[in-house]
Amino acid sequence: MPDPTILTIRRPDDWHVHLRDGAMLAAVVGHTARQFARAIVMPNLSPPVTSTAMAAAYRERIIAALPEGSDFTPLMTCYLTDASDPDDLRRGFAQGVYTAAKLYPAHATTNSAHGVTDVANIRGALEAMQAIGMPLLVHGEVTTPEIDVFDREAVFIDRVLAPLVEAMPALKVVFEHITTAQAVAFVDGAGPNVAATITPQHLHLNRNALFAGGLRPHAYCLPVVKREEHRLALRRAATSGSAKYFLGTDTAPHAQSAKETDCGCAGIFNAPFALESYAAVFDEEGALDRFEAFASENGPRFYGLPLNQGTVTLERGATAVPAKIMVGGTTLVPFHFGETLGWRLR
Ligand code: DOR
Ligand code: ZN
Repeated sequence: MPDPTILTIRRPDDWHVHLRDGAMLAAVVGHTARQFARAIVMPNLSPPVTSTAMAAAYRERIIAALPEGSDFTPLMTCYLTDASDPDDLRRGFAQGVYTAAKLYPAHATTNSAHGVTDVANIRGALEAMQAIGMPLLVHGEVTTPEIDVFDREAVFIDRVLAPLVEAMPALKVVFEHITTAQAVAFVDGAGPNVAATITPQHLHLNRNALFAGGLRPHAYCLPVVKREEHRLALRRAATSGSAKYFLGTDTAPHAQSAKETDCGCAGIFNAPFALESYAAVFDEEGALDRFEAFASENGPRFYGLPLNQGTVTLERGATAVPAKIMVGGTTLVPFHFGETLGWRLR
């Protein structure tokens, strides 16, 4: 295709965000609302969002925190626990409060202590979801300490996800923030009811980035970035044109002080320049003509939601990413800090 200097696409959505709560919510939500029409909001608050009533109340807090004039719809999720109630899932989905439910294996990541200890324990919930067409969003990592941290996603596919998809062939599953060639092979080989989100950081970084010249806390997220061969497999998947892959940033803000410390939090705050970051990848791969499907079409089609009206325009030009973003009294370090990206959101 010709080399465009301007790229206009249908308004995109972000199918995986952490908006947090309270002061942090107020500080970060505008960054997502500025770039995206809708976002799937993760429920890993403390305490987690485990009921329709909690999700409805959280949705109100998000809407109240939006900057004046925002045109943004938060799509809510239920945090699954061993005690999840199938009736609450049915009710919340029927009422339009829940869009999906999230499976965190217990202790896999931030605020996952109440997560699921064994998928056998949520069989009833999953059967209800399969019956009503409610998507299951999966953090795909085993948590057994004997498994090497870089192998946790691949082992999860073998031990948990493949058997689950086989047992529930009609369940809609989004394998979130995939990081490995094994995940790409699994998603490619599964039916049309299995899809995946891919983050900007897993398209830009391999595991060398964690140790480039010293320990790099702002490259640390979960699942952790992997070897170069995996990054390349993710780039091929995202830019392949397959409808199974769509945009999900996994933007996960933590205060700078909570990242740059003895036991730093997992999570990359990529919301401020997410579209510019993805556009750079599609540009480098010679696939700008496939960016719109990844950003704006594949997600809503999978979820069974309408495509957005309206457009956004990116243009070639320098976007200098600041070293810090101050939010109230908190400092956040954005993804790509100190770099210059080659695309600019108009
Ligand atoms: O890096 C991550 N941060 N991965 C997750 O799964 C959770 C997230 C967070 O909430 O900070
Ligand atoms: Zn996440």
